Amino acid sequence: MTTLEILFTPGDIETAVARLAREIERDYREKQPLLLGVLKGCFVFMADLVRALDMPLETEFIHLSSYGRGRAATSGRVRVVHGLRAGIKGRHVLVVEDIVDSGTTLDFILGYLRRRGAASVRVCALFSKEASRRVPVPVDYLGLSVPDCFVVGYGLDYDERFRYLRGLYRLKEDG
Ligand code: PRP
Repeated sequence: MTTLEILFTPGDIETAVARLAREIERDYREKQPLLLGVLKGCFVFMADLVRALDMPLETEFIHLSSYGRGRAATSGRVRVVHGLRAGIKGRHVLVVEDIVDSGTTLDFILGYLRRRGAASVRVCALFSKEASRRVPVPVDYLGLSVPDCFVVGYGLDYDERFRYLRGLYRLKEDG
């Protein structure tokens, strides 16, 4: 049986997103940053974050995948499903991630961006699971730390389910 236990309510998340937006505005107001969302998981966070930001910005997406279907742990290999369409040379890029877990995906993106000549690259992650980090990665703007368990909701899935939930939940599979 699958059960869901709430970790962060929609209100907790809204507060964290608003705080992140104020921090990003402070650092990027004059820079017209390119917010680079990492699909699929980021789509809910990205939509809320850009609407919380009161400054000029642009958005772009890259689609990567590190978890196979139905798996509750990263495969350790990152697959580029859709890469960047436009160049990022000279741009101030802010990577927008829903969650940093092992760090594998973020480490891959940072290498990918470095080779393409961005003026600066920083990372904004709504959730971070520090206890399961395998690759050390920088998170410049962090929303909420989550315990070492499998989480779903607010864009995060298990086998493509639960992305629509407005809070963040711990998923437990019994029996
Ligand atoms: C999730 C999440 C991050 C990544 C983090 O994506 O959106 O991009 O895993 O895990 P890591 O730090 O261990 O690499 P996933 O590969 O599940 O694809 P999805 O966003 O399409 O669900």
